[in-house]
Amino acid sequence: MTTAAPTTAPAAAPTDQSLAVNVAVIYYSATGHVTDIAREIAETAEKAGAEVRLRKVAELAPQSAIDANPVWARHAAETATVPVATPDDLLWADAVLFGSPTRFGNVSAQLKQFLDSLGPAWSQGLLADKVYGGFTSTASEHGGQESTLLALTASFHHFGGIVVAPGYTHPDKFTDGNPYGTAHWSGGKGARPVDDTTRNAARAQAERVVRFARAVKNA
Ligand SMILES: Cc1cc2nc3c(=O)[nH]c(=O)nc-3n(C[C@H](O)[C@H](O)[C@H](O)COP(=O)(O)O)c2cc1C
Repeated sequence: MTTAAPTTAPAAAPTDQSLAVNVAVIYYSATGHVTDIAREIAETAEKAGAEVRLRKVAELAPQSAIDANPVWARHAAETATVPVATPDDLLWADAVLFGSPTRFGNVSAQLKQFLDSLGPAWSQGLLADKVYGGFTSTASEHGGQESTLLALTASFHHFGGIVVAPGYTHPDKFTDGNPYGTAHWSGGKGARPVDDTTRNAARAQAERVVRFARAVKNA
C-alpha cells in the first residue's frame, strides 16, 4: 500500500452531451410540492441532454378523501394528463429519480405500491446497474426528510442500483443542507411553495445524475 499522493487526478465523468441517456422521473404528490420538484428535475435533465419521461404513480386514496381537500383535488385535476408510471419506464431508463412526500417519516403508500409492482423486473435483474436517486417534501422543517430518502434508497440497493446522492458536491447543497437528495419544507397549507433553495438543489441533483448515468452507460 502506498501513502503517496496520486500523480493523476481521478477521471471525471464525461460531459459530452451527445452521449444519449434516458432519465425517468417517477413521483407521487398529493398537493403539488413534489410535482414541482419533479418538473424542475425533468427540465434540468432535458437541458443536460437527457431524454426524459416524467411520470406520476397511480393514486390509491379514495376519491372522497381527495374531494375533501381542495388543494389535493385541484392538484389532481391539474396533473390529470401526466402519464402514469409503469415498470417499462424503469426498463427504458438509464437513471431513475423517485419522488414522494414524507408520510410519517417514510415513503408514501402510493409510491411504495409502485415500487412493489417491480418484483418481476427485479427478479430478472432488469433494475440493476442503473443510476438512482430520490427527492421528497415535508410539511415541517426536516420533518423526516432524511429518513424518507434513506428508506427509498433501501429499494435501490435491492435493485442492484447505483445510488448517486448529491452529497455536498455543489455549493448550493450547503444552502439546502440535505446530502441524501432534494428535499423541500412546504410548511403545510401552501405556506412555503417550492423556492429557489429547493430548485437549485433539484438542478444540482439532476445534473449530477445525468452526468453519472452517462458515465455508467459508456463505461
Ligand atoms: C398521512 C400524512 C403523513 C405525513 N407525515 C409527515 C411527516 O412525517 N413529516 C412532515 O413534516 N410532514 C408530513 N406530512 C405532510 C406532507 O409530507 C407535506 O405536506 C408534503 O409537503 C406534501 O407534499 P405534496 O405537496 O407533494 O403532496 C404528512 C402528510 C400526511 C397526509
